[in-house]
Amino acid sequence: MFAGISLFSTALKHVLKMTPNVVFVLGGPGAGKGTQCQKIVEHFGYVHLSAGDLLREERSKPGSKYGELIETYIKEGKIVPVEITCSLLERAMVQSGKQNFLIDGFPRNQDNLDGWNKVMANKVNLQFVIVFDCPLEVCTERCLKRGTSSGRVDDNVDSLRKRINTFLSETRPIIDYYAKLNLVRQIDATRPEEEVYKDVEHLFQAGAGDN
Ligand code: ADP
Ligand code: C5P
Ligand code: MG
Repeated sequence: MFAGISLFSTALKHVLKMTPNVVFVLGGPGAGKGTQCQKIVEHFGYVHLSAGDLLREERSKPGSKYGELIETYIKEGKIVPVEITCSLLERAMVQSGKQNFLIDGFPRNQDNLDGWNKVMANKVNLQFVIVFDCPLEVCTERCLKRGTSSGRVDDNVDSLRKRINTFLSETRPIIDYYAKLNLVRQIDATRPEEEVYKDVEHLFQAGAGDN
């Protein structure tokens, strides 16, 4: 069904010399995931892969087989089938030729988690899962402000209501799953960017959860 994006099911280990390190980055829409990931990239040399950005890029490709599907899912705040997202992530990992990855906005629901566990989990070292904790009213305000210039089809009140519902009903259980595995590193994201980053920096300096 999703054959248009080639699956690199065995490629990762062949291309990368060592087992890649992965940090998942989760939090509500607008919590500041992308903003903090940029800072981690600058200071710690990770490659930032935002699942949302990869989906938007795939959607915008002329003739993309999944363009329409992705557009609809994003507007509706729904989570795109994992076969598509996981393939985009794996392809970006392989193409980067690097070893350390921040995977932002993934896994977002049980389908994402199952797909990842089936195809990728045994090929990478999952270091930890950062969760940016931010009240959903603050998240909404940030996204609406971002919407004045982002051009995103989902930074509006209607899509945000749906995105927040998806976060609460589908993503929260995934955070709980990783919390039970002791992999969650929670950060208060309500503060100014630089203050949030101080905690993020400590986490990476400490190599938190370097399994
Ligand atoms: P996410 O990737 O989680 O959706 P972004 O990093 O894109 O969030 O941030 C959403 C919006 O909020 C952006 O406009 C960003 O500039 C702003 N922002 C990010 N972090 C903070 C912060 N700590 N305080 C206030 N605004 C922030
Ligand atoms: O993380 P970001 O806010 O960029 O995600 C935007 C949208 O992209 C989500 O609301 C969802 O529709 C889609 N997405 C997805 N699966 C993911 C990440 C994002 O379907 N793992
Ligand atoms: Mg983002």
